[in-house]
Amino acid sequence: MTSIAVITGAGSGIGAAIARELANRGMRVVVTDVDPIAAARVAEEVGGSSMTLDVTDPEACAAVVDAVVDHEGGLDVWVSNAGISKMQRFLDVSPSDLRRTFEVNTYGVFFASQAAARAMVSHGIRGVIVNTASMAAKQGRIPFLSDYVASKFAVLGLTQAMAFELAAHGIRVNSVCPGYVTTAMQDRELAWEAGLRGIEPEAVRQLWIDDTPLRRLESPEDVARVVAFLVSEDAAFVTGESIAVNGGAFMD
Ligand SMILES: NC(=O)c1ccc[n+]([C@@H]2O[C@H](COP(=O)([O-])OP(=O)(O)OC[C@H]3O[C@@H](n4cnc5c(N)ncnc54)[C@H](O)[C@@H]3O)[C@@H](O)[C@H]2O)c1
Repeated sequence: MTSIAVITGAGSGIGAAIARELANRGMRVVVTDVDPIAAARVAEEVGGSSMTLDVTDPEACAAVVDAVVDHEGGLDVWVSNAGISKMQRFLDVSPSDLRRTFEVNTYGVFFASQAAARAMVSHGIRGVIVNTASMAAKQGRIPFLSDYVASKFAVLGLTQAMAFELAAHGIRVNSVCPGYVTTAMQDRELAWEAGLRGIEPEAVRQLWIDDTPLRRLESPEDVARVVAFLVSEDAAFVTGESIAVNGGAFMD
């Protein structure tokens, strides 16, 4: 039977690559994003459907999950991927910036993955959940991203707690921890970091490559293939894990 996979923040970057990868592997994909046009574009490309979802809204998360179960007839894979970043010095982070980062990166993952897990449990589905964390979820040695680092460390703790409680229902929960991935988020960060350091964006790009032992920036597909592994039967005994996908930029 065809597996049904839902990805949040899939209108762009890593989420879009995950949608493509899972569709290529035969899954029926539901592309969700706060940006409906971006979601529809990716859905058309992968032959799936799209839904608008702002992950900061718990009721909207529950409504999307219910609609997927009703229309698609199940929910086997959920990827909580939506996230945001804004680079600035720790001393300059405002309460509203901090709240916004946590709203999307931490509460958004909590609400979305919780809604998916509730549906899986109530329908007796032994599903799989993946949360997109970051290399910045395992180390604070990351410049200008203190609120992001804190929000992503929380995702790893949440992943372990979910995996622990949901194991009794046969549901696996893992995270991926990407490094320097070439997406729209990275383009914004290149400009921010260049401004904060007073150097050219190209010099920042080179710093990131130099920081990566495999000597290139990461592609969204590098992440998507690991997500595909985590949701596959090859990872049937993997849960509560946070897999680094970063070309060696951070090893733990
Ligand atoms: N790019 C990187 O280097 C990198 C590294 C590590 C982790 N990550 C993480 O990977 C994930 C994807 O990042 P990306 O690089 O593809 O970024 P991106 O900006 O290219 O894509 C993020 C997508 O999330 C959507 N989004 C933003 N807020 C949302 C909300 N409230 N609800 C639903 N969707 C929302 C955006 O519309 C966008 O389509 C994020 O969680 C990010 O923190 C990225």
